[in-house]
Amino acid sequence: MVQNSKKVRNKKEDLQGNNLMIFLILLISLKAQAITTYEKDALPIFKNRCSMCHNSAMMPDKNWLDYDIAKNKSDIILKRAWINKDMPPGNSTGITDQERETLKNWVNDGAQK
Ligand code: HEC
Repeated sequence: MVQNSKKVRNKKEDLQGNNLMIFLILLISLKAQAITTYEKDALPIFKNRCSMCHNSAMMPDKNWLDYDIAKNKSDIILKRAWINKDMPPGNSTGITDQERETLKNWVNDGAQK
């Protein structure tokens, strides 16, 4: 009897351990998905809302279609597109608040590729 109840308890602890593992894996994969990246999130916005001006021909040093340039200037992008909201000028390209927030998240997540 004593033996048996010990077995049951061990099994219960195993199950709790499994649940914890599953929970942790879920949490990690959610976190991985939540990270805002250049190619997945920021680049489409740069293409649709910025590239009429910020392209390799017109502004080679502010060409947001180039990851390295955008990453290097990400703090200024945060300032102009999220804090000051003076980019795009007069919002001529119709950027949405949600897109501004995505750019902010991209910078805050470390401007990852
Ligand atoms: C209609 C043209 C136009 C559009 C569209 C536009 N910009 Fe600009 N942007 C400019 C010009 C011109 C400058 C340089 C003068 C200035 O700094 O105000 C500039 C400068 C900037 C700077 C400063 C860079 C530096 O090195 O000082 C940032 C950051 C910026 N833009 C971000 C953006 C972002 C992000 C978008 C899209 C969401 C965008 N701009 C859309 C014309 C534009």
